[in-house]
Amino acid sequence: MTEQHFIPKAHSNAVESGKVTWESPSNIALVKYWGKKKDQIPENPSISFTLNNCKTITTLGFSKKASTSNFEFEIFLDGEKKDDFKPKIQIFFERVEVYLPFLKEYKFRIETENTFPHSSGIASSASGMSALALCLMSLKKMLNPEMPNDYFYQKASFLARLGSGSACRSIEGDLIVWGHSKAIEGSSDLFGLKYPYKVHENFKAYQDTILLVDKGEKQVSSTVGHNLMHNHPYAKNRFQQAHNHLEKLKPILELGDLDAFIALIESEALTLHAMMMTSNPYFILMKPNTLEIINKIWKFRQETGLHISFTLDAGANVHVLYPKNEASQILEFIKNELVVYCQNGHYICDQIGMGAKKID
Ligand code: PMV
Repeated sequence: MTEQHFIPKAHSNAVESGKVTWESPSNIALVKYWGKKKDQIPENPSISFTLNNCKTITTLGFSKKASTSNFEFEIFLDGEKKDDFKPKIQIFFERVEVYLPFLKEYKFRIETENTFPHSSGIASSASGMSALALCLMSLKKMLNPEMPNDYFYQKASFLARLGSGSACRSIEGDLIVWGHSKAIEGSSDLFGLKYPYKVHENFKAYQDTILLVDKGEKQVSSTVGHNLMHNHPYAKNRFQQAHNHLEKLKPILELGDLDAFIALIESEALTLHAMMMTSNPYFILMKPNTLEIINKIWKFRQETGLHISFTLDAGANVHVLYPKNEASQILEFIKNELVVYCQNGHYICDQIGMGAKKID
């Protein structure tokens, strides 16, 4: 399949004005996407858990306008006008116009809010861009009511990717693969695919407690980080490793092999940060408390045999991952021993979710 698949024919319905609301979750990668080609085409395949509680709720209001020469839109975050978000949305609209040719025919009002705090160090780009892509697809569906559901979700993921790469993994749940892998039938660089193979009960309702170690702005954006993988001395091996990890994950997910799962995802998290530390220029996003937490997790795991593990995003926060049936003991440990390393003691309890929802 190519991009051509998402270029639409003329629409069949007329729509004057209306409003649509979607809530869309964040996601956490197990095998990481780090390094991309043009238009958010990933250098390697990735796989993520869709989250349940960390989400963005976006309402898109639209009304037909007379002139079709420009994009016209306003953005509000928590009811407050946000002109500083406009350039990002302008670029997004320019990128997706060929796939949504009606964009210049409407004036848009984008109202958005997040369920997680603003400055939490949790990126809202995945949940935010996927929510906006879904709202735009709902308008598209009003214009073409015959559109099949599968196409709706696939194209929403395709559009979300053009907004922010990992956003394409936030449309559905609970495990999403993005990027072509020979091990995963139907996988594509263009959109996220619901993981198509058997997943053991051990991974159902898997828990993610997000420890907010540093709630500040990242010193290095992920766009800059991705670009530093060009000419990176370890890039080729890293991309191959991600392919291998995804292949290795298949039997692990099927058999419910928690020990092998832990070894693989922790290696992925540390490799992501190793790439940052070995790029030119190099940088470090982990903080001393990130390492304190990792060491405590390892010690506790060794002492108890419980299946607690961690992964990291492009930041200092730690995602503590564990199976649901071990939740009470592990949560107790988190509260007693890890929360002290969080900024102002803040953390978020989340778990695997099933994807975005339309709000009527
Ligand atoms: O979607 P972006 O450009 O914000 O990149 C996300 C990169 C990581 O979060 C570090 C890894 C991933 O696969 O989500």
